[in-house]
Amino acid sequence: MNVLVIGSGAREHALCRSLSLDPAVTALYCAPGNAGIAEVAELRQVDALDGEAVSALAVELGAELVIVGPEAPLVAGVADAVRDAGIPVFGPSKEAAQLEGSKAFAKDVMAAAGVPTSRSYVCTTPEEVAEALDAFGAPYVVKDDGLAAGKGVVVTDDLEAAAAHAAGCERVVIEEFLDGPEVSLFAITDGVSVVPLQPAQDFKRALDGDEGPNTGGMGAYSPLPWADPKLVDEVLETVLQPTVDEMRHRGTPFSGLLYAGLAITSRGVRVIEFNARFGDPETQVVLARLKTPLAGVLKAAATGDLADLPALRWSEDAAVTVVIASHNYPGTPRTGDPISGLAEVAAEDAPHAYVLHAGTKYDADDRDTVVSAGGRVLSVTATGTDLTEARERAYQAVGRIGLDGSQHRTDIAAKAAAGA
Ligand code: AMP
Ligand code: GLY
Repeated sequence: MNVLVIGSGAREHALCRSLSLDPAVTALYCAPGNAGIAEVAELRQVDALDGEAVSALAVELGAELVIVGPEAPLVAGVADAVRDAGIPVFGPSKEAAQLEGSKAFAKDVMAAAGVPTSRSYVCTTPEEVAEALDAFGAPYVVKDDGLAAGKGVVVTDDLEAAAAHAAGCERVVIEEFLDGPEVSLFAITDGVSVVPLQPAQDFKRALDGDEGPNTGGMGAYSPLPWADPKLVDEVLETVLQPTVDEMRHRGTPFSGLLYAGLAITSRGVRVIEFNARFGDPETQVVLARLKTPLAGVLKAAATGDLADLPALRWSEDAAVTVVIASHNYPGTPRTGDPISGLAEVAAEDAPHAYVLHAGTKYDADDRDTVVSAGGRVLSVTATGTDLTEARERAYQAVGRIGLDGSQHRTDIAAKAAAGA
């Protein structure tokens, strides 16, 4: 199978790594990709937001499957353009991607499908905002309605800060605070059948102990030893299948990856958000544990054949990933700093630990040097017989990496490994 992946993050590196290990994949391309993906796939330049350009590239390459990684191209309708060219594509249509593109739309779908989520108000004026904040009380949860790369949400006890964030958005969703641990559960769907993957946990805050601002995600692990073994079945039945059914009944079937961000509250499971694509960094740990070759699974979703897919096979291993971010992330990150230690990890820690690249590129003057090129730079991933071993291996590899001014959390999966 000839496969083209669109995107340039650590999630796309994880997808490309798995695809490169799949014997069914005969040619693998990634556009635009990054310095790490270049080691497993042939890179092509493309404007990932331009549907016509992406579908032209897919035709030129003879792609038999296109996988659209990030949300922005999906919301821009890139999957539709590829589908219109007659090429199977893994990723929802522009209309279906509104499940991620608009928090108000997602709330409406959940209400119609009877999916448990927090109570909320959609507000457009300061008066509505003040009323909603007063109705729920602290802690306040204020979400920009549109796409914001994980940075549009403010959770705070400070009423003024909550109102100020709302004032900076055109339309906001203000909702009830959900207490309890968070779980990310991904499902592959063709619009009818739904196949859940293994759950993972993401660390959204920038600093150890869940302090600091929200980020795109600073680390993740899977499995979740503390979670109820029935969790996946319950979420399939109460969240994933009803949502996929509701989207189909609306005439906008959702195919691709449905990401449920969940809070496990004392009153049961609640959806915090939906995303319309693989999560980053959770994908790095989920794919590290998937034994079934990936290409056939994604192709079956793209062609409406998921019902015939044999059950997925999973490794008993645990996986941990630690994100190394640039100086000042999630603010405006410093870029262009050289990265050292990549060859040492490959020589000393493989195959149990490996580095997935996010914001990296080759130095323009020195093709042997990889430099930082974004906020999240690397996602150092490791597997082990349990979380303790996986996290030891991940942090050992993190210790070999040099990147001036960089930051990473030291407590990824620590509580879960300790059985807390
Ligand atoms: P979202 O972009 O909706 O996933 O929100 C980003 C993060 O903000 C989530 O992962 C949670 O940590 C936090 N958050 C969002 N909504 C709520 C809520 N209703 N209650 C508590 N925390 C929330
Ligand atoms: N890890 C959070 C996200 O992908 O949105």
